[in-house]
Amino acid sequence: MTRTSGLFVEHLTRRFGQLTAVDDLSFHAERGAITGLLGPNGAGKTTTMLCLAGLLRPDAGSMTLDGEKLGPDRGRRIALIPETPDVYAMLTVWEHLVFVAKSCRLKSGWQQRASELLLRLDLFDKKDTLGEALSKGMRQKTLIASTVLAGAPVLLLDEPMIGLDPKGQRELRSILRELREAGTAIVLSTHLLESAEAICDHVLVLNAGRAAISAPIAELRFGEAGRSLEDVFLEATR
Ligand SMILES: Nc1ncnc2c1ncn2[C@@H]1O[C@H](COP(=O)(O)OP(=O)(O)O)[C@@H](O)[C@H]1O
Ligand SMILES: [Mg+2]
Repeated sequence: MTRTSGLFVEHLTRRFGQLTAVDDLSFHAERGAITGLLGPNGAGKTTTMLCLAGLLRPDAGSMTLDGEKLGPDRGRRIALIPETPDVYAMLTVWEHLVFVAKSCRLKSGWQQRASELLLRLDLFDKKDTLGEALSKGMRQKTLIASTVLAGAPVLLLDEPMIGLDPKGQRELRSILRELREAGTAIVLSTHLLESAEAICDHVLVLNAGRAAISAPIAELRFGEAGRSLEDVFLEATR
């Protein structure tokens, strides 16, 4: 990996009226790594992700992916699994995957990968169920399967563990580890510190829109004996 590989975010700022939700935030999400975006409620995690995915216009800031400036057409390269899983009411689970395969022009044979993802997420027996008839967790799994199938080089996940059953959480962690091996730059927001500790390579703690900590997880964990990520988190966001 070169020094410019991955997603570089520079001076990202987003205001809502008087409130600065994301305040001059710069960070690097490396390819082949999982970056945990941590922070208390209202820290600016969702706003950051929406700006990165191009769904919210930032007031300032720029982004590059593998050294190339990202413009408004970045949707193909930066995929977001949002906090609220909106699926198409009138498409079945399988039709969501067909939709992705067609719009991303996936190579033939994608069906096998799609079936495998559904099986892993315990969703295969729901493949002919309409979006409107899915539970929240199933909607989330439908979006996970569709997004992973699309294979974007940058994957953003906003609080992905919330709403997933334990098996789903474990399966998602194992899918994310595989994507990391394949060189995807993964950014995952969570306030579940144990889950962050289990999976993240790098941690970015946001507090009131600013980066309170940005460090490799190993450094945080072993920096001072006996300190947990929770200790570090609470201190940084006090
Ligand atoms: N559409 C909006 N309009 C006004 N304020 C917003 C909007 N979206 C988020 N905010 C505010 O921005 C701050 C950051 O919110 P958010 O990014 O959702 O935080 P997090 O995801 O870390 O909980 C909060 O104070 C929130 O109230
Ligand atoms: Mg949020």
